[in-house]
Amino acid sequence: VRPVGVAVLGMGTVGTEVIRYMTENAEALAARIGAPLVLRGVAVRDLTRDRGLDPDLLTADPAALVSREDVDIVVELMGGIDLPRPLLLEALRHGKAVVTANKALLAEYTDELAEAADSTHTDLYFEAAVAGAIPVIGPLRRSMAGDQVERVVGIVNGTTNYILSEMGSTGADYSETLAEASRLGYAEADPTADVEGYDAAAKAAILASIAFHSRVTAGDVYREGISRISPDDFESARDMDCTIKLLAICEKLRQSDGSEAVSARVYPALLPNSHPLAAVNGAFNAVVVEAQAAGRLMFYGQGAGGAPTASAVLGDMVAAARNKAGAGRAPGESTYAALPVANMDEI
Ligand code: NDP
Ligand code: HSE
Repeated sequence: VRPVGVAVLGMGTVGTEVIRYMTENAEALAARIGAPLVLRGVAVRDLTRDRGLDPDLLTADPAALVSREDVDIVVELMGGIDLPRPLLLEALRHGKAVVTANKALLAEYTDELAEAADSTHTDLYFEAAVAGAIPVIGPLRRSMAGDQVERVVGIVNGTTNYILSEMGSTGADYSETLAEASRLGYAEADPTADVEGYDAAAKAAILASIAFHSRVTAGDVYREGISRISPDDFESARDMDCTIKLLAICEKLRQSDGSEAVSARVYPALLPNSHPLAAVNGAFNAVVVEAQAAGRLMFYGQGAGGAPTASAVLGDMVAAARNKAGAGRAPGESTYAALPVANMDEI
């Protein structure tokens, strides 16, 4: 069986966990894919740091790694826009599959990346770009593709939800809580993207584009962050039996001429404590989708951090590798039954 070659660009909070699980669960993943995943190299900036990997796998030249013939899947976990954009375009134009968690890039350049993927009949996967471990891109892109989505409302930034939850419950200091969110691996390299709502706006743009089969970029999203929220605001909210959450709201609106348009906005909202999203605390995220036929669905789980995000990245890697290996298996099928079915009489 031909192995599936993987290049990982970035070994920070998320990349470290992806490589850890890919290595620890290599046998189980190979069984699910029908071929082993082989790590061809890892691009980082600092080559001197010990990362517990064979040093020969490390490179500071991501372009050379991406162009290797034995790389089938490029997993981008570096962040930024200008560096990864040409690398991922190059990979896709050479028929490699791309898995990325980079919402800032996707919120601007999904069209360009998707066109490059189409040109070589390969795939672009980005489940990890919105709401960490929570499967929401897959359901919107595939499971709900036949329905008419009317509205998507969510808490899609773990850092700000962590800060607001701590401020609301313990009266914690804003700056100290932000520093803790960075330490826990929730915040972006530049946490301004989190606290000023840019990260949530990028996610709102991705969600709105998929949910409404439209083209929404981060610049189209109305945005307000949480940096001006004070303990007094929480006190007023409590008096009204409410809390404060940074919401991303994407919906179809009817304009004055009767035509429909998409609206996407991110802002700190006063939410009644009885609302399901009011109970979403810490770095957890939740996304509520309202659709014509499905009605209301709610997706909930860990929205940030290395391991939860790695779960979504690894799911995309398995899907991409199955295509590359030509196995085309349905979930649950594998080359061998890894676990026997328990005999209930003996338990
Ligand atoms: P980190 O800052 O922790 O890691 C970035 C990695 O990229 C580091 O290993 C860094 O190298 C490497 N890198 C950066 N620039 C270069 C370069 N010029 N050449 C080679 N390597 C480079 O980021 P995260 O892991 O937190 O995030 C990665 C991506 O995932 C981002 O797009 C982020 O938005 C997204 N994401 C993050 C989540 C999270 O909870 N953290 C959740 C969902 C998505 P070095 O180690 O040498 O510094
Ligand atoms: N910085 C992001 C957050 C990471 O806090 O939600 C997950 O996308």
